[in-house]
Amino acid sequence: MDLVNRPRRLRRTDAIRRLNRETRLSAEALIYPIFVDETLSGVRPIPSLPGQNHYGLDSVCQAVEECLSHGVRHCILFGLPAEKDACGSSAWAERGIIQEAVRAIKASYPDFTVITDVCMCEYTDHGHCGILHGHEVDNDETLEHLARIAVSHAAAGADMVAPSDMMDGHVAALRRALDENGFQHVSIMAYSAKYASAFYGPFREAAGSAPSFGDRKGYQMDPHNSREALRECALDAAEGADILMVKPALSYLDVIRTCADRFDLPMCAYSVSGEYAMIKAAASAGLVDEQRILCETALSIFRAGADMLITYYAREIADAIRRGDIG
Ligand code: PBG
Repeated sequence: MDLVNRPRRLRRTDAIRRLNRETRLSAEALIYPIFVDETLSGVRPIPSLPGQNHYGLDSVCQAVEECLSHGVRHCILFGLPAEKDACGSSAWAERGIIQEAVRAIKASYPDFTVITDVCMCEYTDHGHCGILHGHEVDNDETLEHLARIAVSHAAAGADMVAPSDMMDGHVAALRRALDENGFQHVSIMAYSAKYASAFYGPFREAAGSAPSFGDRKGYQMDPHNSREALRECALDAAEGADILMVKPALSYLDVIRTCADRFDLPMCAYSVSGEYAMIKAAASAGLVDEQRILCETALSIFRAGADMLITYYAREIADAIRRGDIG
């Protein structure tokens, strides 16, 4: 008998295959995006994201209950304000949509993690992620506004703030403002390596945040680059980020791997709207098996080194883990 080329016995039974898994998944590592619309009462389906909804303030707790019923315990909130202006002032309003949604969730579900997206593009009438001078975003002036938004979210009870603007110095600005206002306990999840991606298309439809002119290439990253992601992560880490993020996920698995290997902070991946919409579209055309594809894509992201995942499929992935399909 050839002892060198004998079959791999570790693949023999289901139980042993499970024992032998190199990647472990848990519903604890999933974060679900929730869209809250100030102009809405009740729930309204999002056309660009089949299976996802806009929630009115009166029904945001319904989204939380659904999450909990699937075993998902963390969310990230996005707001659609009733009013927009040049400086996105409704983003830091005391009774703004995010501030009210955080209060509503925390009043009923104090242990449910609420992360808030800190950005201006949903709140500015021009759709850019900061304050404009001419057609350019003014980095440093934007930082003051972002800090104010983050503090208002913390004051409402957010557990964590997630700046997605890609301004230089944003983490330092938020950390300082949070600390000065008594929110030392609120952590920062930095969208560190956020690429200028076409995969955000369905989100911009859903959040009404497409720029009215130009694009975001001036502040988001060039998909040609991966070493640049290391520089962005290093800056955010040095400025005090608690969690680093790579976004999108599927086309950037190499970046997730490199950043996870290099930094000792927890690594989040954001599987964005376009990734979800592609799977949904292919599945509804009968071209792929949705359940298996959503499992396999989630696995690939964790295998690449992510510690946690923001995904519109959070509830389905949690179900798949419970069934034993993955995990
Ligand atoms: C806000 C923001 C965006 C996303 C998350 N935060 C849109 C953008 O940068 O254009 C995209 C998320 C998704 O596509 O699911 N800046």
